[in-house]
Amino acid sequence: MTRKDPKQWALILGASSGFGAATARHLAHNGYNILGIHLDRKATMGAVEELIEDIKSTGHSAIFHNINAADPVKRHEALDDFVDNVHREGRPEIRVLFHSLAFGTLKPLVGRSSEEMITKQQLEMTLDVMANSLIYWTQDCVRRHLLGRGARIFAMTSDGASLNLPFYGAVSAAKAALESYIRQLALELGPRGIIANALLAGVTDTPALNKIPGARNMLIAAIAKNPLSRATHPEDVAKAVLTLVDSGADFINGNIIGVDGGESKVSYIGQQNPYQYSDLRLLAESSWDPTDVS
Ligand SMILES: NC(=O)c1ccc[n+]([C@@H]2O[C@H](COP(=O)([O-])OP(=O)(O)OC[C@H]3O[C@@H](n4cnc5c(N)ncnc54)[C@H](O)[C@@H]3O)[C@@H](O)[C@H]2O)c1
Repeated sequence: MTRKDPKQWALILGASSGFGAATARHLAHNGYNILGIHLDRKATMGAVEELIEDIKSTGHSAIFHNINAADPVKRHEALDDFVDNVHREGRPEIRVLFHSLAFGTLKPLVGRSSEEMITKQQLEMTLDVMANSLIYWTQDCVRRHLLGRGARIFAMTSDGASLNLPFYGAVSAAKAALESYIRQLALELGPRGIIANALLAGVTDTPALNKIPGARNMLIAAIAKNPLSRATHPEDVAKAVLTLVDSGADFINGNIIGVDGGESKVSYIGQQNPYQYSDLRLLAESSWDPTDVS
């Protein structure tokens, strides 16, 4: 049974879109208050307001901060604000820390010329936001006694941690680091009763995916090879999180758990009749050109 504690909170890093937003919604509908961190401009703030209203309509609290999660001052402010304002109702306990930040430089590491080469600043920023920030947020939650026994840490990874793609070198390195951090957190926090796992999602149609050159082809290829005949949806991950926060999952620790319908286990496509795919329209409408990375 999932513990229903009216004071339980989920800290979602990357709460406004994709996996983070879907997980925030699902957790709120299943007994969690949401502390959401996101980075949005005016154009996408309408969707953030809708998400906050949806969370509040469940009777749970939603505290959202539109900040750069990699900024240490902003991180401290957000966590201090949480302690100051939520503490009045009793000891605030974050039961779920979900890392789902997508903010990296998509450039060749070396490329064809100096101009194409990723810079030191871009490489370090990508690793800082997409990997190191998991450690800094975890440290600061532990320092404030916000993560207690039974707490769960999740970080979103992809098969890009072990397979390489054009333009994905920096993000790929960040994913490999993130997976290593999860194993280390599992080791170091296990004695405190806190468990940590990485979730490996399949290709999912989100704003982050659509920034990768050739994203459309990636999506089509993913659908074509997925044993379950469709792409991953953000809700697939949200439902997996709900399952993994259950006390029945409290011995699952230090893993990379695929939430991709088996997509990452299949290395070729075309083995099935394309007309059986549920995302058929996308396949049928496509004039797939694997050399096109525009
Ligand atoms: N979309 C995919 O196909 C896919 C597959 C596997 C893993 N992932 C991983 O899942 C994670 C989330 O990706 P998504 O597809 O849901 O992306 P998304 O673009 O839908 O959402 C990204 C979220 O991160 C927030 N964000 C970005 N930079 C931030 C910053 N500096 N500070 C605070 N918030 C910031 C955004 O506001 C947004 O809420 C990423 O780590 C991504 O690599 C994505």
